[in-house]
Amino acid sequence: MMTKNILYLIGFRGCGKTTLGKMLAQRLQWAFVDTDVLVEEKAGCSIASMVQQHGWDFFRQAESEALHNIGTKPAVVATGGGIVLRQENCEYMRQQGFVYFLSVPASILHDRLYADPKQEQRPALTELSPLQEIENLLQERLPAYLSTAHAAIDATQCIETVADEMYMQYVTIRKHAEKLA
Ligand code: S3P
Repeated sequence: MMTKNILYLIGFRGCGKTTLGKMLAQRLQWAFVDTDVLVEEKAGCSIASMVQQHGWDFFRQAESEALHNIGTKPAVVATGGGIVLRQENCEYMRQQGFVYFLSVPASILHDRLYADPKQEQRPALTELSPLQEIENLLQERLPAYLSTAHAAIDATQCIETVADEMYMQYVTIRKHAEKLA
């Protein structure tokens, strides 16, 4: 597991996967990949319009395919918040590399997401109020996030601190894993 150079970041919308992923990729001198971007590039349209035209199942299928087509070159992969909804994706990520869960409580996710101008491009996931939607979905997805991840980090701290901690932790684990390999 740890001899493979792929680091997956999982967690809810707004937990910092993209920002932290780019920071870690830079430190490790690895590529940065975002499954949402892969899906949008392949489809030639935004996720919002994809979901509007073809529905969520269609998007989930495209997301799974994007994940499986990333390849094996060293990369930090920011995943979509719902990537863990398919068990096969969870198994694949655990097997291919090291999976990090970025933990942020619902109220903070809500504040971050609604301060983010990109929010308009994110399709609503349910008919509930934004905070209720986040609370319910986070509760529902938490078991999958936790059982898929090899490690979790409190991602409410300042972004540089989180990136430092993740980097140090990953480098330390790798060092031990290489000795055992
Ligand atoms: C989703 C999160 C989004 C995107 C899609 C569905 C989800 O990704 O994949 O809109 O189900 O939580 P981000 O977590 O990168 O916003």
